[in-house]
Amino acid sequence: NKRFRVGVIGSGNWGTAVAKIVAENCLEKPYLFHRDVKMWVREEEVSDMKLTDIINSYHENVKYLPEVTLPFNLFAEPDIRKVADGADLLVINLPHQFLGSVCDQMKGIDFSKSSAISCLKGINVSADGVELLHDVVEKKLGLHCGVLSGANIASEVARERWSETTIAFPLPSWYQQGDADENLIKELFYRPYFHVQVSDDVCGASISGALKNVVALGAGLVEGAGWGDNAKAAVMRRGLLEMIKFGNVFFPGKCRPETFTTESAGVADLITSCAGGRNVKVGRAFARTGKPLEVIEKELLNGQSAQGIITGREVMELLTATKKEDEFPLLGAIYDIVHNKLHISNLPERIAD
Ligand code: NAD
Ligand code: 13P
Repeated sequence: NKRFRVGVIGSGNWGTAVAKIVAENCLEKPYLFHRDVKMWVREEEVSDMKLTDIINSYHENVKYLPEVTLPFNLFAEPDIRKVADGADLLVINLPHQFLGSVCDQMKGIDFSKSSAISCLKGINVSADGVELLHDVVEKKLGLHCGVLSGANIASEVARERWSETTIAFPLPSWYQQGDADENLIKELFYRPYFHVQVSDDVCGASISGALKNVVALGAGLVEGAGWGDNAKAAVMRRGLLEMIKFGNVFFPGKCRPETFTTESAGVADLITSCAGGRNVKVGRAFARTGKPLEVIEKELLNGQSAQGIITGREVMELLTATKKEDEFPLLGAIYDIVHNKLHISNLPERIAD
């Protein structure tokens, strides 16, 4: 039977936590996977040492996932092509603003019989409209790509505290018995502390994961303004409705509302992100200090990224270009508060029915 070689592209907070999961499974399931897993690390110096050397010597990503021991069969590799070339399964996991340039670094590799899972949360907006990130991977690299998204704060998952996730992996057109399918993908990610629900709604899982980051920023704003839990719940409820609507308007017929309301990738991710994620922290700090979001991100996150900042801008660009601002009043109000000096006291009126 074929054994699959797994590579991980990305080694941030979530990138490293997911690499730990797949390396544990590759170690435990030699009948399915090659034991050793390479993880692409964008090289940088930390305390006068290369981050790759630190990870390979001490089995810890001291910068992006400190105090978590990584499996010995996970290897940090600074050359992305050495990770991607020859991998049957690629796990792609980066802040989404870097996806295009990272894909460019893998150009020319033959991925015609490989598959990928995107763990990114975001969308890609350009003059041509909006694209989902697994589609970007497919188009740029000819690499068949599914999606993993869920209520998964990385630091908790890395400490093996139980959570659920949603995976959507449609079969590739070239699929034959023995190639990667959703069961194999589940084998790669399932852990006793990381439960996997398989779904066929790639679009719903992707949009949910992207937009909840912007809603979490909004939840942080009302929290930082000292408005309390009722206001935060209202932002979450209205946010969920706008997430579902976004799917219907921009991807008609392609995603199911139940994904948003019943899956880990939907409402559960919204709840956990609005409770303890990075975006809510950034929104909270903005309400308290008024500093630009990028400054707050730098001060609070030590090189990590709060994706709601960029996604919020991309969403607004799309809504403006398509003249649909009025249909998404919460997303518009969050944007105006953080970029256009709208005072938060205007929020209830702006989103009133
Ligand atoms: P992160 O926010 O920790 O970002 C740091 C990573 O970005 C580092 O690996 C760094 O090398 C890389 N980076 C910085 N500049 C770069 C560049 N120019 N080119 C390429 N890479 C660069 O990343 P993360 O937490 O692993 O997030 C990856 C994705 O996972 C995001 O879409 C995020 O929304 C999603 N996600 C995150 C969490 C979480 O709790 N962290 C949970 C679920 C999903
Ligand atoms: P933050 O990026 O806001 O930390 O959210 C992490 C996440 O996606 C949890 O599922």
